[in-house]
Amino acid sequence: MVKYAYNLAFTFSLLVSSLSAINANAADSDTSRAIEQGKYLAIASDCAACHTNKDGKDFAGGLKIISPVGTIIASNITPSTQAGIGSYTEQQFADAVRKGIRKDGANLYPAMPYTAYSVMTDGDIHNLYEYFMHGVEPVNTPAPETALPFPMSIRTMMMGWNLLFLNDKPIASDNTQSAEWNRGKYLVMGAAHCGTCHTPRGPLMEEENSKFLSGGQVGAWYAPNITSDNESGIGSWSKEQLVQYLRTGNLPNKAQAAGSMGEAVEHSFQYLSDADLNAVATYIKTVKPISTEENKGSRFNQGAPGTSLDDLRGKSSQAIKDANLEGLSLFQGNCASCHEPLGEGSKDQYYPSLFHNSVTGSSNSNNVIATILNGVNRTTKEGQVFMPGFGHHPNDINNLSDQQIATLSNYVIATYGKSDKKVTAQDVATVRQGGPASYLVLVARIGIIVGAVVVVILALWLYVRRARKTKNNLK
Ligand code: HEC
Ligand code: HEC
Ligand code: HEC
Repeated sequence: MVKYAYNLAFTFSLLVSSLSAINANAADSDTSRAIEQGKYLAIASDCAACHTNKDGKDFAGGLKIISPVGTIIASNITPSTQAGIGSYTEQQFADAVRKGIRKDGANLYPAMPYTAYSVMTDGDIHNLYEYFMHGVEPVNTPAPETALPFPMSIRTMMMGWNLLFLNDKPIASDNTQSAEWNRGKYLVMGAAHCGTCHTPRGPLMEEENSKFLSGGQVGAWYAPNITSDNESGIGSWSKEQLVQYLRTGNLPNKAQAAGSMGEAVEHSFQYLSDADLNAVATYIKTVKPISTEENKGSRFNQGAPGTSLDDLRGKSSQAIKDANLEGLSLFQGNCASCHEPLGEGSKDQYYPSLFHNSVTGSSNSNNVIATILNGVNRTTKEGQVFMPGFGHHPNDINNLSDQQIATLSNYVIATYGKSDKKVTAQDVATVRQGGPASYLVLVARIGIIVGAVVVVILALWLYVRRARKTKNNLK
């Protein structure tokens, strides 16, 4: 009897322990699935673009984001309790990522793109949290403190800007559209934040929602109109072409990704699953078409093979003058070795054709200048594509002056693209310094900060006025 009871107890305890083992295993695999999905989301959201410094440890922060109002330093977001976010609860993490509020209650500067991440679901935030807590190595070196000049040093000031521009409601699912479309919209608005670059900004540097994806300047580069407009946007692209461009950064005889788009492809978009890339493309193809003056006339089919010096033999002196001989010789000397003397590129299009190319075919000549100055350097699973820059190395034989680049750009645009706007040396100087009204490439991404200053001044003014009124009323 005793033995039987003992056996029963033993069997029971075995059962309990194996059940709890199953439970523990289930919990383990839940956690590891969350970590896996969180890692994928961190890549889709490109957290590393700012939180991993050049040659630094993963997510240890320290990258200096230079803005018109001062330098903002990206935080250490490793799970270190002293130096990182190791002591953040999931709720505090959610508030930082979606509302721009730090653990100590202070507001983050919008250099952290919480206005886009605000649409992330609780489930995705949970997975991101699990990844940052358990899938990232803690680094115990704190990132340097951000010290902006007054009044930007007062973080509460950011509340005014948030009141105006932070939409922290989740995206409502649209039942008239497919699950794929809804997934695409969620990614485009949130993690992949296409609008951060492709939507023009308003007077307070907020994204102008009524002009969603119709083109914006991002530092030295121009992010073109990617609405579904046939002429100004990418309405003529198939869904498959858009997927190919996002995965590889190259669509032969149409477009290549350089600058910040090249970086987004390299660090983020190329790793998206086929399902997610298709979802993004499905949604983008339905974005309201917007016709923009800057992009009139499709930029994908402009131009034709160029002329060579032989073509000019026996021409009148006026024809030779019109031909921009200096531009031609700069082209032959610096560009023809790769893009071929007539600009048709190499057979395999590793060196792309310069006609039927969105950069030369755009009415906005900004990216012709940016390409010549900065070159192209993009690594994907397909390998590396590299074009040297011609304007950033004072001691380099490749170094061209602003005037030379303007002359060369005008030649390239007139010969291979759309020649309705002349490039001046001043235009080149502007792109060389990192774009209009900013001094570095990242500035436009975080240009919203300028808006915050204006809001601060406005708020102060209102406050002072009200205080004066109250004082006057008391008199
Ligand atoms: C475009 C640059 C950029 C990207 C992309 C970015 N961040 Fe940030 N993040 C920042 C900057 C800059 C700060 C510090 C801002 C400040 O000091 O006000 C910050 C702060 C934070 C903080 C607050 C930490 C603290 O205590 O200071 C968290 C948490 C955070 N980011 C998480 C993330 C996650 C998760 C992602 C990806 C989903 C991400 N960030 C993507 C720029 C970025
Ligand atoms: C960090 C800024 C940034 C982000 C984020 C970004 N883009 Fe871009 N995009 C650019 C820039 C700059 C260019 C121009 C690149 C060039 O011509 O070399 C560009 C070019 C493109 C082009 C080619 C257009 C043409 O005419 O050549 C497409 C299509 C595109 N982006 C789609 C997207 C989509 C879809 C997303 C979101 C999933 C996205 N981009 C996110 C900056 C960005
Ligand atoms: C060493 C070879 C090489 C030289 C020299 C070179 N390029 Fe390129 N160029 C490339 C490569 C590679 C690409 C990128 C292809 C890709 O993105 O898939 C490129 C891309 C371009 C683009 C498209 C950029 C974009 O963002 O879509 C333009 C325009 C261009 N080059 C113009 C020029 C001009 C003008 C010169 C002369 C100043 C020049 N290139 C010199 C190799 C070269």
